[in-house]
Amino acid sequence: MTRGDSDPPALPHHVAIIMDGNGRWAKMRGLPRVEGHRRGTRTVREVVECARELGIPYLTLYAFSIENWGRPKPEVRTLMSLLREFLLRELPLMERHRIRLRVIGDTAVLPLPVRRILSRTIAATAGHGEMTLTLGLSYTGRNEIVRAARKIAAEATRGEIAPEDITEALFSSHLDTSGMPDPDLVIRTSGELRISNFLLWQSAYAEFVFTDVLWPDFGKPEFRRALDEYAHRHRRFGLTGDQAGPSPRR
Ligand code: FPP
Repeated sequence: MTRGDSDPPALPHHVAIIMDGNGRWAKMRGLPRVEGHRRGTRTVREVVECARELGIPYLTLYAFSIENWGRPKPEVRTLMSLLREFLLRELPLMERHRIRLRVIGDTAVLPLPVRRILSRTIAATAGHGEMTLTLGLSYTGRNEIVRAARKIAAEATRGEIAPEDITEALFSSHLDTSGMPDPDLVIRTSGELRISNFLLWQSAYAEFVFTDVLWPDFGKPEFRRALDEYAHRHRRFGLTGDQAGPSPRR
C-alpha cells in the first residue's frame, strides 16, 4: 500500500523530549538562568496542549536528571518550586483534557512538598485515558535499568522467577515506563546532539529530531515541524527497506 496525497501523515504514538537550552536562552538576554526555566515552563504547557490537540497519546518530558542535582542549590530549589507551581496550576488543564500524569525516575529523593503534589496529581488523574504525560524527575536511563535489575534479582532470590524467565518483555515490565509503548520520536532542543542518559532502553528504535531552537522558544510551530520530519522518516526496525514497506513520500 502506498500513501496517497490525502493520507494523514504518520503521527507518533509516543513523543519524548529532552528540553534543553533554558540557561542559554536566559544568558542571551542578560537574565538569571532560572528565568530560562520559568519561560521553559510556559513551553511545557504549550507543547502538552499541542500534543493533546493532535491526539498524541504519550508525551514524556525530561524535566530533571539525576545529574541535575549537582547544579547550584538555588537553581535546583527554583526548578523544584517551578515544578510544584506547574502541577498546582495545570491540574485543571489535565482534568479538562483528560490527561493522566505519570512520573519516571528515582522520585524517593525529591523534596517532600514535590512528592506530595506529585502523588496527589497522579491520583487525581489516574482515570484519565486520552493522553499520558510522563515527567522524568530525578531520572536517568542507567539508574532506571539498574533499579529494574535489582527488582528482578530480588524476585529471583525469592525463587519467584528463574534466569530463563528474564526476557526483554519481563525486563521492560520492571522499568519505570512499564506498560507504556516505546517512544517513536525523541526530540532534543538547543542544538546539542546527545541522548544524555534519557530512555536508554526504550529509545532503541526511536527516530531522533534535533533542533537548534532553545526550549523557551520551542512552541507549536517547532513541535509540528518535528512531527512533520518524523512523518517523512522511513522506519525499518533492522529490516531491509523492501521488507519494511514503502518509504513515506517527500
Ligand atoms: C535544560 O536546560 C533544562 C532543564 C535541566 C530543566 C527543564 C525544566 C523546565 C523546562 C521547567 C520545569 C519543568 C516542568 C515539567 C514544569 P539547561 O538549564 O541545561 O540549559 P543550558 O544548556 O542552556 O544551560
